[in-house]
Amino acid sequence: MEKELNLYGPAPTEEPERQYYFIEVCKKQVEEESKRLGRPLTFCVTTFGCQMNARDSEKLTGILEQIGYQPTEEENADFVIYNTCTVRENANLKVYGHLGLLKHRKKENPHMKIALCGCMMQEPEVVKKLKESYRFVDLVFGTHNIFKFAELLAESMESGGMIVDIWKDTQEIVEELPIERKYAFKSGVNIMFGCNNFCSYCIVPYVRGRERSRKPEDIIREIEKLAADGVSEIMLLGQNVNSYGKNLDDPITFAELLRRVEQIEGIRRIRFMTSHPKDLSDELIQVMKESKKICRHLHLPVQSGSSRILKAMNRKYTKEQYLALAEKIRREIPDISLTTDIIVGFPGETDEDFAETLDVVRKVRYDNAYTFIYSKRTGTPAAAMENQVAPEDNKRRFDQLLALVQSLAKEQTARFAGTVQEVLVEEVNDHKEGYVTGRMSNNLLVHFPGDASLIGQYRNVRLEECKGFYYMGTVV
Ligand code: SAH
Ligand code: SF4
Ligand code: F3S
Repeated sequence: MEKELNLYGPAPTEEPERQYYFIEVCKKQVEEESKRLGRPLTFCVTTFGCQMNARDSEKLTGILEQIGYQPTEEENADFVIYNTCTVRENANLKVYGHLGLLKHRKKENPHMKIALCGCMMQEPEVVKKLKESYRFVDLVFGTHNIFKFAELLAESMESGGMIVDIWKDTQEIVEELPIERKYAFKSGVNIMFGCNNFCSYCIVPYVRGRERSRKPEDIIREIEKLAADGVSEIMLLGQNVNSYGKNLDDPITFAELLRRVEQIEGIRRIRFMTSHPKDLSDELIQVMKESKKICRHLHLPVQSGSSRILKAMNRKYTKEQYLALAEKIRREIPDISLTTDIIVGFPGETDEDFAETLDVVRKVRYDNAYTFIYSKRTGTPAAAMENQVAPEDNKRRFDQLLALVQSLAKEQTARFAGTVQEVLVEEVNDHKEGYVTGRMSNNLLVHFPGDASLIGQYRNVRLEECKGFYYMGTVV
């Protein structure tokens, strides 16, 4: 690195200035390499996992574009980066599968670079395996030091070998780095990082670290900037947004944050993810009820309907408490859509426990539910529990649950037929020519005649035909 250091002076020690310095260092390298090859260098960011990872990928993209890489499909990319997830075993297997393909591609294109980051890299066994059997990977970093991406990339350009930098945890929140949004008109906004809940099946607290809230001023400033840049819909992101702000020097509730976000001009829709039922306050329900901007959708993961299993999961609520909460929300905000996450086959789950889950699904009548078969995650308390459920029982329960969830979701979706809803147009419909797709406040999609000029705009649409989980409509 010494040469570059001379070119630009010593690297600043403060963040984010330090990263802007390394962006310049990388830019120079990319320029030289492009000149040599007589073509631009290209990149592809592939995201696995949740909205938080998707937002992180926008940060990676922002930096890569600033450096001078141009976006492309993975097959043609000079720089390929996977932002990984490890919440379930499947997510890991996918990454190894992809790496197998990349190995061959790299043989044909020797100046190709491969980087891996995200939650899976926070697991020591994964990094060990990569170091042993995947030496063709150039750069490996984790969730806590993603802000250092430009610096690590500069190091990697210089080194030629495999660079691995994983932090165990961090207190740092680095703001104000470049970000390239996937959509011009909507954006995720991190309000907190990490998780302190330690649900016994879940690996997220281990790979994302302890809960850290961003200061409300920083969040507001980011949203104001987004609004000025044409964003009208935002989604506030955190593993448990209901505990936002509790550990700040000047504590503030999530409901109060929402009140402040509501004041921001130019923002028309506010969403948030995810709400833990144990921390959902009456104040929040009140704010949602009074708000003109908070969307009529609440994702409220139940995980199981059995109080016994919920206790073993360390969820800190019972079936009865959850049902009472769902009922209160429906009473206060009647047009709200409720969605949830459900795990089937947590260790020790019996047919009776599972019947309780079905009962909750019937009672709450979710608009949608994401169902998962329990996946054993090394290092979590549940992985050490003895009575793991047999795969054939899991499969049977999963199929039964899915059938119920889908039939109820269809009925729930149909309840809006004939109404006029305001939608935000998101994209041109790939399947039906001359149609666009818009999202309603309650998160349902509607397809209706229109063209690309409508993208990012709001229209009132009559919901004419319910097609199960979405609608066909026309602009009124
Ligand atoms: N913080 C969010 C969830 C993040 S993970 C919350 O508490 O609601 C998203 C979903 O993945 C979880 O809600 C859960 O349903 C599922 N999940 C997490 N760990 C899992 C595991 N080990 N096996 C199967 N599903 C899991
Ligand atoms: Fe995982 Fe529970 Fe934290 Fe959600 S709240 S991320 S399920 S530990
Ligand atoms: Fe996966 Fe990490 Fe999100 S493990 S679900 S990408 S926080």
